[in-house]
Amino acid sequence: MRTSKITEEFRKLTFGNYITEGKSEKLTKGKEVAFEYTKNFAEIRKRRENSIALLGQVGSGKTHLLCAVSNNLLSKGVQVIYFQYVESISELRSDYKEAHEKVNELKKSEVLFIDDLFKGVDLLTKFERQNLYELINYRYLNHLPTLVSSELNFEGLLKIDEAIGSRIYEMSYGHRYVFSGLELNHRMRK
Ligand SMILES: Nc1ncnc2c1ncn2[C@@H]1O[C@H](COP(=O)(O)OP(=O)(O)OP(=O)(O)O)[C@@H](O)[C@H]1O
Ligand SMILES: [Mg+2]
Repeated sequence: MRTSKITEEFRKLTFGNYITEGKSEKLTKGKEVAFEYTKNFAEIRKRRENSIALLGQVGSGKTHLLCAVSNNLLSKGVQVIYFQYVESISELRSDYKEAHEKVNELKKSEVLFIDDLFKGVDLLTKFERQNLYELINYRYLNHLPTLVSSELNFEGLLKIDEAIGSRIYEMSYGHRYVFSGLELNHRMRK
């Protein structure tokens, strides 16, 4: 999939250039969750709870941090597929025939990074629900690590789809952080 490719921009996002000095403690906490997850990944991946969820405030660096996690894992030879929710879902939808095959590939990826889960969604379509449920449930049952970012918090995810939201909640136990507060929006810093 085009959107599964890790771009140059993505490659530049590291822990080193995620700045926390002089900023809210909340950013340090979020960064620590992502850093610890990366550092201990070899051990964490064997557990039932082997995923990570960074949720909440827009512009707080959720994508940045999960790109840093992904880049680290990629450098260790772990396969990571990037699934940008809005683009990737529309790509799947554009070719119903190939959707099944593509979902199969995503299901089995060593690590799957779902960025911006449920972005712009009030109600899931049948297509979204079926494919996403199949994807998440497979990864859940097979203990496959998944990196999730969303501007929704867990309550918001559960409201959109309880089956999917509660699986992500369980899978990310011990590696979750919800950013909260407009002051954390890096895009508004100037
Ligand atoms: N603490 C930080 N230090 C340096 N750059 C940051 C920091 N936080 C965010 N950025 C930069 O700000 C921009 C927005 O961050 P990012 O896209 O990761 O936020 P997000 O939480 O994923 O937002 P959204 O909810 O809109 O997807 C990116 O270019 C990112 O590299
Ligand atoms: Mg993002």
